[in-house]
Amino acid sequence: MSRKLSPARKFGGTLTVPGDKSIAHRAALLSILSRGTIQIANFPDGADCLTSLRAAQTLGVTLSESDGIMTLTPPASLSVSADTIVDCGNSGTTARLLSGIIAGSSMEVTLTGDASLSSRPMKRIIEPLTRMGGELFATDNKLPMRIRGRKLLPFDYHLPVASAQVKSCLLLAGLASSCSVTIREDVITRDHTERMLSALGEGIAVRQPKGVMVVDPDDPRKKHIEKSESFANEVKLTSAAHINGGEINIPGDISTAAFFWAVGAISGKAVTVTNVGLNPTRTAILDHLKYIGCTVTIDNKRTISGEPRGDVTVEGQSLKARKISGDTTVGLIDEIPIVAVMAAFAEGTTLIRNAEELKVKESDRLAAIAENMTRMGAKCGLLEDGLAIEGRKDLTGADFTSHGDHRIAMAFSVASLFLVGPSTVDDADCVGISCAGFYDMLGQVAR
Ligand code: S3P
Repeated sequence: MSRKLSPARKFGGTLTVPGDKSIAHRAALLSILSRGTIQIANFPDGADCLTSLRAAQTLGVTLSESDGIMTLTPPASLSVSADTIVDCGNSGTTARLLSGIIAGSSMEVTLTGDASLSSRPMKRIIEPLTRMGGELFATDNKLPMRIRGRKLLPFDYHLPVASAQVKSCLLLAGLASSCSVTIREDVITRDHTERMLSALGEGIAVRQPKGVMVVDPDDPRKKHIEKSESFANEVKLTSAAHINGGEINIPGDISTAAFFWAVGAISGKAVTVTNVGLNPTRTAILDHLKYIGCTVTIDNKRTISGEPRGDVTVEGQSLKARKISGDTTVGLIDEIPIVAVMAAFAEGTTLIRNAEELKVKESDRLAAIAENMTRMGAKCGLLEDGLAIEGRKDLTGADFTSHGDHRIAMAFSVASLFLVGPSTVDDADCVGISCAGFYDMLGQVAR
């Protein structure tokens, strides 16, 4: 359904956001392989996470709920009929992580998805899983995909694309098949799988080689840090790795919080999100907010279930542009739509480079952002690998197209609060993929 949005006059406030989507997927899917029950507090109500929960249930996990705690009990043995179909809906994380679990198990399952997910690349998991001995059948490397689980071989892999989904898929394949897996990555992607395996089980080790100080041969006064090995992060899963079960308390989703902090950044009024996840592989958005001129304050910092969290207040001053590339783009991968919206209200030209991965998210996010920016009168150039956005003051309300992509709908809903005249966002219900109560929550910080 299309949603009408009007510019707001009063800004600021405090809110909590639903539990972290990435952590929730992992908690739900790990229950398939766990030896004991997993109790989860603060499981989010977004459609994507419910898809992972339903998938676990289809594969034999039982679910009960009491006092807001969800208990997932693993099946006594993993066995489903060979015609079992799991619909992964819109969720790339469900499809990719579950593929690893099934490929290394004794089950035969077909994964399907909606039109968006069925157009997203699966070669990035099919290729390494096949090298492990997995049997995966997909036309054109896209869903639907039939996976015939079998005993996999030990595997050593340097990720060719920075992707936590691929890393997690292969670790879960090793876990399901009791075979060792070593993953090396050039950029440290989100590490929730590693943290959860450590918190609930045994058999995983992570190592980040220290950089070495190198003196510039042309100018001995200059020094810089170079990698001492050919990777930034190494994750090793042993063949004896297993999950015992236990408790997981999910912090609020920092990627959802970003939309509300953007209200604080653009309006100049403080917006606080309490109990939000502060895993260092996810906090590039806080560095970004500081970089563009916001004051960021963190209170009540603590770690529960191996995941740091705290209460974060963001208050903008006149925003400035920034050049974003390389590791920074990877760190902001889910935040680029709202980073782009903030750029439209900043002084100067923001450049976002090395962002090709955004073309294969829930929509082609680079094209979707450029299209909607143009509709509101912003100057936005679509580059081969990113965007160039020139900030300006007199942007006007527009009819935005979400392309059914939750983060595009949320980003341009935030933009509409600061435009001259009313706006609409089509298919706005898609915000429910990660934050069903998004519009009520937006009303708490913008009236
Ligand atoms: C996710 C990893 C990222 C991210 C996605 C969630 C995860 O995807 O964009 O929203 O939970 O592992 P990639 O692994 O494709 O970068």
